Amino acid sequence: MATKRIVVLISGSGSNLQALIDATASGRIDGRIVAVISNRPGVLGLERAQKAGIRAELLDHKAFDSREAFDSALQALIDSHEPDLVVLAGFMRILTTEFVSHYLGRMFNIHPSLLPRYKGLNTHQRALEAGDTEHGCTVHFVTPELDGGPLVVQAVVPVATDDDASRLQQRVHECEHRIYPLAVEWFCADRLQLLQEGVTLDGALLPPTGYRLDA
Ligand code: GAR
Repeated sequence: MATKRIVVLISGSGSNLQALIDATASGRIDGRIVAVISNRPGVLGLERAQKAGIRAELLDHKAFDSREAFDSALQALIDSHEPDLVVLAGFMRILTTEFVSHYLGRMFNIHPSLLPRYKGLNTHQRALEAGDTEHGCTVHFVTPELDGGPLVVQAVVPVATDDDASRLQQRVHECEHRIYPLAVEWFCADRLQLLQEGVTLDGALLPPTGYRLDA
C-alpha cells in the first residue's frame, strides 16, 4: 500500500490542518500532505503549512469572474499534485457540481454540527436556540449537495445549560481535531469506501450517522 498523497484546502486559521500535519508527522496517518491551498491571502493556515515544510499555495477566488472559472482553475492546481485524497478543512466556498463530481469518493469535508442538523453557517447558535442537549461535528464525503454527503464519523458534544456559542464552538473545535485525523487515517489505510449504498469501514456498512464517538 503506497503512502497516500493529500491536498488540503483552507480559507482561514487552519487548526484542523494543524491536527492533520501533526498526525502525518507522527506516522499515525500513512499519508503525506503534498500541498495546502487557500482561497484567501494572508491566512494563518498558509503559515502553518510553510512552517511544516509543506508547499503552500494561494488561489484567490476574487481574481476570477465566475464560480465555474475559479473551480476549474482550482481543479487544475489540485490535480497538478496528483492527490489520492482532497481534504476541505474550513474551506468556505460553495463548489460546483463538476468540481465535486471529479473528486467523488476521495474528498472529505468537516462541518461543525451533527449533520444532517444545521447545514450552512452559525451552527452553534442554532443548536443553542433549538434547545439541543447534544451538538458536535461531522466528517463526510463531499457530494454536490451542500453539507449533504454520506457521513463518515461524528463526535457528540453535550450542551451545558449555561453554554454560549463561543464556549460550545471551542469544545466542538477540539472534537474536530480528533475526528478529522481519524477519518483521514482510515482512508489512507484503505479502510474506508464510498459505495452506492453508503460508506463502509473495513467492508461493513456504517450507519447513516457514520461512526459515532460519544463524549
Ligand atoms: C471548522 O470549525 C470547520 O468545521 C468549519 O470551519 C472551521 C475551520 O476551522 N467548516 C465549515 O463550517 C464548513 N461548512 P480551522 O480553520 O481552524 O480548521
